[in-house]
Amino acid sequence: MQDPKEKCMSVKDAMNPKIQEIITELKDKPGALLPILHAIQDHLGYIPAESVPPIAAALNLSRAEVHGVISFYHYFRDTPPGKTTIHLCRAESCQAMGSKKLEDHVKSRLGIDFHETTADGAFSLEPVYCLGLCACSPSMQMGDEVFGRVTPETFDNTIAELEVQS
Ligand code: FES
Repeated sequence: MQDPKEKCMSVKDAMNPKIQEIITELKDKPGALLPILHAIQDHLGYIPAESVPPIAAALNLSRAEVHGVISFYHYFRDTPPGKTTIHLCRAESCQAMGSKKLEDHVKSRLGIDFHETTADGAFSLEPVYCLGLCACSPSMQMGDEVFGRVTPETFDNTIAELEVQS
């Protein structure tokens, strides 16, 4: 049977060194938990489970408290994002221009709901509340690119182009 100390060491060793660097850099700031979580997600695209114990230890919190904050905010991910993240706008102007129909189509086409990733790891789907492109509603962001006047057909074409490129 593996010594529990050895297990702890192997988890620590497996942790991305950047996580410990972020914790060390930010832990003494007031309200450090959210800045630490944001910095880790900005760096890795998600917050790995192995980062919870060192965050809790550094901030004198329980692991449950750290985990509770991660799961409370939908923005935070605890699994790696897909290769491309699609942000679909759900705000007022886009809703008025049929974003719900588009949303239903996108979910059905990808076979996932918001905050999920396709089984092949190609796409993650997230809601967003205004992309600043209201005049061209409904809008979405795919990776770094923003699209306006999106229809189910143009969505399918864009996805097909990305699938051909990968
Ligand atoms: S409401 Fe969708 S881009 Fe502004």
